[in-house]
Amino acid sequence: NSVIDGSFSWSSPSNIALVKYWGKKDNQIPANPSLSFTLNNCKTETTMTYKVKSEKGISFDLLFEGKPKEDFKPKIQKFFERIVKYCPYIENYHFVIDTKNTFPHSSGIASSASGMAAMAVNVMSLEKKLNTDMTEEFFNQKASFLARLGSGSACRSVAGSVVVWGAQADIPNSSDLYGVSFPFEVHDKFKHYCDTILLVDKGEKKVSSTVGHDLMHNHPYAQQRFGQAHENLSKLKKILIEGNLEEFVALVESEALTLHAMMMTSMPYFILMKPNTLQIIEKIWAFREKTSIPVCFTLDAGANVHVLYPTSDKDFVSTFIRQELAEFCQNGQFIDDQIGMGSLLI
Ligand code: PMV
Repeated sequence: NSVIDGSFSWSSPSNIALVKYWGKKDNQIPANPSLSFTLNNCKTETTMTYKVKSEKGISFDLLFEGKPKEDFKPKIQKFFERIVKYCPYIENYHFVIDTKNTFPHSSGIASSASGMAAMAVNVMSLEKKLNTDMTEEFFNQKASFLARLGSGSACRSVAGSVVVWGAQADIPNSSDLYGVSFPFEVHDKFKHYCDTILLVDKGEKKVSSTVGHDLMHNHPYAQQRFGQAHENLSKLKKILIEGNLEEFVALVESEALTLHAMMMTSMPYFILMKPNTLQIIEKIWAFREKTSIPVCFTLDAGANVHVLYPTSDKDFVSTFIRQELAEFCQNGQFIDDQIGMGSLLI
């Protein structure tokens, strides 16, 4: 074996779901299909150094921004344990993983999607070194498969720019096991869509997404919700192809509020939105009413608000965000982002 030591560096983006994944079966299989926009500026950059060793087993050191970071280690350990079945060669190496995010530390932006995607593509780079005739399609598919085992939504952060996760009759190759790029031409209006992320609350989430997904198991509205997600995905595909912004706004906001409605109606129930989340939503609605600009919001599993709008309205909406929404953000912080490409080898 000639692959003794070396290193790779990858940057992987975060993504924002428009049709939400909430609820899963064993082995990170989603209860319903989801669709996301890949982001451009919110990324994790990870360098993975590997060195062959004599005794077999999972072994690694973890650095965050170049310094040892013990509290992230269990997540990476679990990731390696889950993927070793599919990547047995990892037991021959000691890894040094040095990772950093381009977005502010503990900004309340989940780094699990970008972080786990960056781990997965790095592991696949090693696999490609061991098996040099690997196709790009295999690389992406398996990287997304591995990323899913780290964090479900991470499987949508390998490719860009619109990604579907979940088997769909009309999407070739789509699967519950990995994400694939949206195979249809999206309308020009959606090609450079903007997403400004308003940082409403930077604190640790009170309920993790793992716990949240689990609470869908005995949830009174689970089956209706999963059915609705299927329907919304069918509708959204058509909307993205045809460029109907009015329908886009209604569907995306409804998905966001439904996600949070599921949290509020589970047992135990919980609320991740903050008063400022609602203040922002009301401001967005008032602005849209007044200007007819198709700006809308979506939410992740947290209090932050993603403000989505077409590039053609960028100047106008940017002014609105700075003048009317920034005051509801923690320390006035927000991140201007837009639809982007997938993971990139640096
Ligand atoms: O990838 P997880 O297990 O952290 O779940 C993420 C779930 C949501 O962000 C709320 C929705 C989604 O589809 O990304």
